[in-house]
Amino acid sequence: MKKLIALIALLFLTTTAFAQITGSAHDFSSESWNSSGEICITCHTPHDAMTGYEPLWNHEVTASTFTLYSSSTLDATLGQPDGPSKLCLSCHDGTVALDNFGGTTTGTSFITGDALIGTDLSNDHPVSFTYDASLATTDGGLNDPTTTSSGLGGMIDADMLYSNKMQCASCHDVHNGAGIDNLLVKSNASSALCLTCHNK
Ligand code: HEC
Ligand code: HEC
Ligand code: HEC
Ligand code: HEC
Repeated sequence: MKKLIALIALLFLTTTAFAQITGSAHDFSSESWNSSGEICITCHTPHDAMTGYEPLWNHEVTASTFTLYSSSTLDATLGQPDGPSKLCLSCHDGTVALDNFGGTTTGTSFITGDALIGTDLSNDHPVSFTYDASLATTDGGLNDPTTTSSGLGGMIDADMLYSNKMQCASCHDVHNGAGIDNLLVKSNASSALCLTCHNK
């Protein structure tokens, strides 16, 4: 019986540990616009990657100017999307064809439906701003990212921020590593994702 329980536990651990991009919303291996049949290639390449973007980026990058979120209670200073958020928006703003990767600039397939975020980010959670201990102090309703656990193994700043900045990838795992709906980095049941940073 103990062995059986151990086996079931092991199976559970291995299946959860193997949540991956294959079969997720970001598995484009069988899309009509990706004749390579590969998964990583729409976003990365091992050689001849684009200079100025990381990691080993292979998709045409958006040139849009975005309308930013604003509110009277916002303490952070927002800039135009940068870092990994700009890469997400290179498909999700709907201005760059999905098939514009590997040097192609004449693609014709564009993102549609709910996944189309567009260039108006005024109704979206803010991204591309510094979230540090001083912002937490100023705001009063935020946890200190340098001393608060993310629930993912380390502190918020190490696990969820990119060069101390909040980005799309603070909440989303582009590779579906956690295997949670909407490619979230952690479950938002009972708003657990929100409450990681917001002290409400
Ligand atoms: C839809 C676009 C997309 C696809 C497909 C994709 N990636 Fe990524 N990848 C990104 C973005 C954006 C980042 C940077 C943000 C981040 O680290 O989450 C990244 C980061 C990475 C990194 C560095 C950070 C880390 O997580 O270790 C590696 C390595 C990587 N990807 C490998 C892969 C491999 C291998 C594949 C295919 C099996 C793949 N990616 C498929 C978009 C993608
Ligand atoms: C190569 C283009 C491309 C890039 C780059 C890309 N995405 Fe996507 N993403 C898509 C497409 C296309 C869909 C819709 C797939 C569908 O509806 O079948 C999608 C779907 C999603 C979804 C919905 C998942 C679901 O389960 O419905 C989320 C969330 C998402 N992307 C977040 C991101 C984030 C965050 C980044 C950057 C870290 C990113 N994407 C980068 C093309 C991309
Ligand atoms: C603060 C956390 C957070 C940030 C930052 C964030 N998202 Fe999301 N996103 C979510 C959650 C939670 C969902 C689940 C569905 C919902 O609540 O709308 C979601 C859903 C989505 C979806 C699925 C379609 C939809 O609207 O339901 C896409 C695509 C997406 N996000 C892309 C992005 C992109 C691109 C960025 C950066 C510009 C981004 N997200 C930034 C938390 C976030
Ligand atoms: C990784 C940390 C993080 C996560 C996760 C997160 N947020 Fe935020 N959120 C922030 C920071 C930092 C700000 C900027 C606050 C400020 O400067 O006033 C912010 C801003 C906001 C604002 C705008 C505040 C204003 O004054 O206009 C709202 C509303 C909000 N978040 C709601 C959410 C919700 C809902 C979720 C869960 C879906 C969520 N956040 C998840 C860090 C996070």
